[in-house]
Order: sequence, then C-alpha cells, then structure tokens
Amino acid sequence: MKTKILVTGGTGYIGSHTVVELQNAGYEVVIIDNLSNSNANVIDGIEAITGIRPAFVEGDCTDINTLRKLFEENPGIKGIINFAASKAVGESVQKPLLYYRNNLNTLINLLDLMPEFGVKGIVFSSSCTVYGEPDKNPIDETAPIKPATSPYGNTKQISEEIIEDYIKSGAPIKSILLRYFNPIGAHPSAMIGELPLGVPQNLVPYLTQAAAGIRAELTVFGNDYNTPDGSCIRDYIDVVDLAKAHVIAMKRMLDGQDTDAVEIFNLGTGRGLSVLELIDSFERATGVKVPHKIGARRAGDIEKIWADPKKANEVLGWTAQVPIDETMKNAWAWQCKVTAK
Ligand code: WQD
Repeated sequence: MKTKILVTGGTGYIGSHTVVELQNAGYEVVIIDNLSNSNANVIDGIEAITGIRPAFVEGDCTDINTLRKLFEENPGIKGIINFAASKAVGESVQKPLLYYRNNLNTLINLLDLMPEFGVKGIVFSSSCTVYGEPDKNPIDETAPIKPATSPYGNTKQISEEIIEDYIKSGAPIKSILLRYFNPIGAHPSAMIGELPLGVPQNLVPYLTQAAAGIRAELTVFGNDYNTPDGSCIRDYIDVVDLAKAHVIAMKRMLDGQDTDAVEIFNLGTGRGLSVLELIDSFERATGVKVPHKIGARRAGDIEKIWADPKKANEVLGWTAQVPIDETMKNAWAWQCKVTAK
C-alpha cells in the first residue's frame, strides 16, 4: 500500500517537479491547485515522465470546505507538502492583502484539518527571504531572521511561526520547514519546467526568453554592488535537486524516529554565483548568446546571499548534485520546447 501525499500547488514549478520525485520514490500523490499561476496540462507532463497520472483536484485551499471534501474523498493522506502560495515579491508590495489571505489562510486551513484526518506531517515551502540581507555568508539555519522586506517574505516568516505555535500548542503533527535559495532549471526530459505567466520576474526565465528572442534583451539590475564583478550574488539550486530534498524530508518526517516536531533546513548548493557568472554559464553550456545590458539596480534586491547547506547535507543526507552548466542546458531545452509550441 503506497503512502499517500497531498501536494498543494502541485501543478506549479517546484510542485510539479516534486510530484515527479515523489512518484519515483513510490508515493501516491494527490494534487490540489487553483491554476491561478499554472496550467492543468502540467499533469500530462508529469505522467509522461513517470507513467503515473496523479489525482488532481482543481480547487482553492483558502476554502476550508474544498479541502475538507478533498480529505473525505481521498482518505489515508499521511503527509502534505504545501507549495500553494502567491510568490511574486513585487506584486506582494502592490497587493499585500491578497498575499496574506492566500498564503496564510491556505496554511491555517491545512493545519486545522490535519488532526481530524490523521495527517501526520507537513513539509512547508519556505524561503531564504526570511533572512533578509545577511550579515555574513554563507548563511546557516541559526542566522537571525530579519524584518521582512516584502509582504511575500513576511508571509513566509509568519507561516513558520504559525506552524511552530500550533505544534507547541500540542497539535499531534510534525513539520519540516525548507528554506529555498534560488530554484532554477527544468526537468531533463523537458516535459515540465518553469512557466511564468506574463513578463518573468525571476532571472532565469527572463534570461532564456531573451536568448530565444522573445525578449529583446536581459537587463542586469546593477553592476555596482560590492561583489567581484559588481552584479548580485545568489545560490542557484537546480529544481530537481530541490524536489529530491522534499522527498527525503517527507520520508524523515513520516518514518523518522525521535526527530524534533519542527525541523528547519536551508536548501542551497553552498555556491554563490553572480548574475554575470550565470549568463556566462548559460552561454558556455548552450553556445547561445544572451543579449543583455547593464541597467539600474532593482529596488529591494539583496546584494549577496548563499547557503551553508551543511545541516541538510549531514542531517537530511541530501546534497545538491546537478552542475550549474547542466541546469542551464535543461532550462534552455525547456525554453525551446515551450517556444516551439
Ligand atoms: C535573482 C538575481 C536580480 C531579473 C526571488 C524571491 C525568492 C524566490 C526567488 C520565491 C537578482 C537579478 C533578475 C532580471 C536581473 N522566490 N535579475 N535581471 O530576487 O533573488 O529571489 O525569487 O520563492 O523568494 O525573493 O530572484 O530571480 O528575481 O533575481 O539582473 O531581469 O537576478 O537583481 O540579483 P531573487 P530573481
């Protein structure tokens, strides 16, 4: 009998790649997604990779009755991975209530229903944005949580606190908080990948669209930072590496003995790369030039942040494997697939 896992936001970028790895690891997956930032044909892509079509419920997790019905109709769910959230930093500044309502109500509804339906644990999709601008790099899980610089980042901080307070109150559940650095790339099959709606906010989808000629050129947001080449530094983590970390976390949470009720892990490579270095990696890996120019800094950008992944490496037994050039090659293959449609 397969262990059944609910993946909220499972047709999204990181969610879909995680569904693939859960299925590869022998879990049965149920997806709920309101398709506000993704497309139902992602499920065809998942099935094309694994040969298994996950159960799919189109619905909004901010409606507790929708979730209750899902648990009633899909008995035996043992774990949840919660990706369902709005995640555009800039948009969150313009529409804070949408972010607080969507991201927090989703989580509260899930937590509220877990004991009633015997769900043992929840893996929460958190973010390195909880650290703000680090005092030093690399950054580990003991680094101070800084005041959020956006409503989006604040929803991640508040969500972590909600989970901790709920478990401290005696809720019979466990949780693992995964703080991602910068997820990039696509599945090597090119059957699933990042599908930003409209103008991409994140670097890599904008970069691949510029390389494909969909965008005239990529603007590098500033080269006057205190970094070796002046452009910002991030810890770019391959999305398949990231997805595999979720499977390991789920197994640890559900099967692990004497693990803490709440555990926190930074998920990064431990390697900082600048924007210009990422452009070089893409051009080296694909042989395709990225038309780009240097522009003004983007408000709110952090200068440099990269992970110390020691705890995830040693406690989870997970280490990022995919070389950056391979990630760039996969991102390009996916872009070519999408462009060809
Ligand atoms: C990366 C670097 C930009 C676009 C955000 C969220 C984080 C997570 C990932 C959800 C920065 C530069 C970008 C462009 C550029 N989101 N850049 N030209 O801001 O590090 O993180 O997305 O979980 O929570 O905060 O990612 O990809 O937007 O930017 O020069 O057209 O690329 O200045 O230095 P970011 P990003």
